[in-house]
Amino acid sequence: MQQAIAVLDSGVGGLTVVREVMRQLPREKILYFGDTARTPYGPRPAEEVVRFTREIVDYLTQYQPKMIVIACNTATAVALDDIRSRVRIPVVGVINPGARAAIGRTKTGRIGVIGTEGTIKSGAYEQALRRLSPHIEVVSKSCPHFVTLVEDGNFRSVETFETVSTSLLGLRATPIDCLILGCTHYPFLSETISEVMGPNVSLISSAEETAREISTILHENNRLAGNEELPIHQFFCSGDSKKFRHIAQQWLGEQIRLTPVVWHVPHIGA
Ligand code: DGL
Repeated sequence: MQQAIAVLDSGVGGLTVVREVMRQLPREKILYFGDTARTPYGPRPAEEVVRFTREIVDYLTQYQPKMIVIACNTATAVALDDIRSRVRIPVVGVINPGARAAIGRTKTGRIGVIGTEGTIKSGAYEQALRRLSPHIEVVSKSCPHFVTLVEDGNFRSVETFETVSTSLLGLRATPIDCLILGCTHYPFLSETISEVMGPNVSLISSAEETAREISTILHENNRLAGNEELPIHQFFCSGDSKKFRHIAQQWLGEQIRLTPVVWHVPHIGA
């Protein structure tokens, strides 16, 4: 049986990475876990996000994947090293790929980053950007309401436009030429974000660069899928499966095989 790439997020956000992996690596089988029962991760303490990430990784490793992709910036910021130390397969996060993509795109060296409270508080993007280019100017802003809009499937309403324009008011006054969508949920809102930021600001999603990194690592380890039949992907979600299925099928443009998961461990604020 083909070994899969396991991808995880707090909800539907990681599907933005999945879509790009499907496009770049159509032969790879994907196992996806969206922790919709416990989304959002952004406002939670770092230790709780680490614990949730470990639980999902433990769940997914039952299926013996060949790689783990933490397709959640909040979890990447606080749990990447921890997960790497616990498993023997490659673990990829989304922050370094996002930072690389932005450095490749900026012309002025002024980059904006938006993300959850957890990601922005961690300073992980600033660090990743400065490691790549020490003199880069970075302006960061957390956008705590965006994840809920996306989880509700509310991508293009008047309410969404108002929330996005209010949240990005300060950033619009800065001379950035690139804006990193530092939360995998945000590409769902990219049309609105782009309308608000205007044509002179390029939006950077880490999805494309993350898929490239996945491809490179699999290639280097000689683990790319061969010419087997096209894979059947498997999705898991811990919350409302009807809502998850609707958003996933709309975003991926195909029917999905979805298994609801009920956590048997105490979690919320425990
Ligand atoms: N999509 C996730 C991220 O990239 C998590 C958002 C959340 O649950 O707050 O940060």
